[in-house]
Amino acid sequence: MSAFQHQQGSLHCEAASLEAIAEAHGTPTYVYSRQAIESAFLAYQTALTDRPHMICYAVKANSNLAVLNVLAGLGAGFDVVSIGELERVIAAGGTATKVVFSGVGKTRQEMLSALEHGIRCFNVESESELLTLADVATISGRTAPVSVRVNPDVDAGTHPYISTGLRENKFGVDVDTARRLYQVAHGNPALTPVGIDCHIGSQILDIAPFLESLDCLLALIDDLEAQGISLQHLDIGGGLGVSYQESAPAVEDYLSVLSQRLGSRDLELVLEPGRSIVALAGVLLTRVLYLKPTTAKDFAVVDGAMNDLLRPALYEAWQDIQAVTPREGRAQNWDIVGPICETGDFLGKDRQMALSEGDLLAVMGAGAYGFAMASNYNTRPRAAEVMVSGESVHLVGQRESLSDLWQREIIPQGPTS
Ligand code: LLP
Repeated sequence: MSAFQHQQGSLHCEAASLEAIAEAHGTPTYVYSRQAIESAFLAYQTALTDRPHMICYAVKANSNLAVLNVLAGLGAGFDVVSIGELERVIAAGGTATKVVFSGVGKTRQEMLSALEHGIRCFNVESESELLTLADVATISGRTAPVSVRVNPDVDAGTHPYISTGLRENKFGVDVDTARRLYQVAHGNPALTPVGIDCHIGSQILDIAPFLESLDCLLALIDDLEAQGISLQHLDIGGGLGVSYQESAPAVEDYLSVLSQRLGSRDLELVLEPGRSIVALAGVLLTRVLYLKPTTAKDFAVVDGAMNDLLRPALYEAWQDIQAVTPREGRAQNWDIVGPICETGDFLGKDRQMALSEGDLLAVMGAGAYGFAMASNYNTRPRAAEVMVSGESVHLVGQRESLSDLWQREIIPQGPTS
């Protein structure tokens, strides 16, 4: 059951009224349900009790310290893609030994820092990266645990911007290159091959592409084993979609199919879910500023915008928008748009609602890739974030102040030419 339900005519998060949260914290504000995050994570844990596993939450989906702290408390590992994300995990109480480090552009400094923290594994994405890692590890007198990220050339059937497992995508290496990189790693005392990795995309609604990738990885694992290179874990990445509108596979079904395919193999299963842990646990609260009917279209101008929630503008993503306190009256078709000076600044188009100025709206499914992708475009402070647990409402991210926005900027003094 969703953590967001109507109670006495108005939408609540768990037992907390969204109207009251907006009153206390202003708008736009992100609201996260602690219980929804916990139950999404526990669905992964529970489904895998019979198999060695590590669930590495993909920090990029929502990197708020409070969110990371809840997950760390449940024993989560983390998938990071920058040293900033690793430092966040540690600041939030996570453990470096449960961190895998993905991404095509790790710098030497990031590698060194991650080695010093003693992370679980580097998911290496190219030959140059592997050689650089070997060099950094040798100089620092450490051994780097590595997985090679395999690009299985599988079509995940998702938006092209978030499809990552096709040959033409920048991620991972093809199977033949991976085989060679394992030999390089095996022969280098500064590197230890520990696992194999892939990630084929995000918001994937069909289990078949995951199985296709899994088969590709298993065949390579067998090849490597025959060459005396034996791996301990298989990381199938993240990517499981959620039901924004279309229906998504249940975590339990997805994991049971993966588990069946793995059979009795002695491999730890690593997963890097992001969206499926936090997306449906969050909403973006925004208030209607003006209603602007025109001869062509009717616009509801709200105080949240593409800088707060970029997904509709960037991917034409559809997220449900609900009136927090639905009103009686004739519903009509509104485009819900923000104050930013771009036609692409919309949160939703053609939404049938009865609206008045001042109404509070909730953009649903905003817990993943919402605040994490927010910017200060149009010199707009980033929104506040709150986490609800039962009746308790905790501010977990302060709204930026205007002076925060230009604090790092410097007007040159003296002659400038
Ligand atoms: N692991 C790696 C290496 C990734 O690149 C990603 C996401 C994940 C795990 C987590 O995938 P998830 O379980 O969240 O699908 N901003 C886009 C999504 C970008 C996903 C990028 N990589 C959106 O708002 O739809």
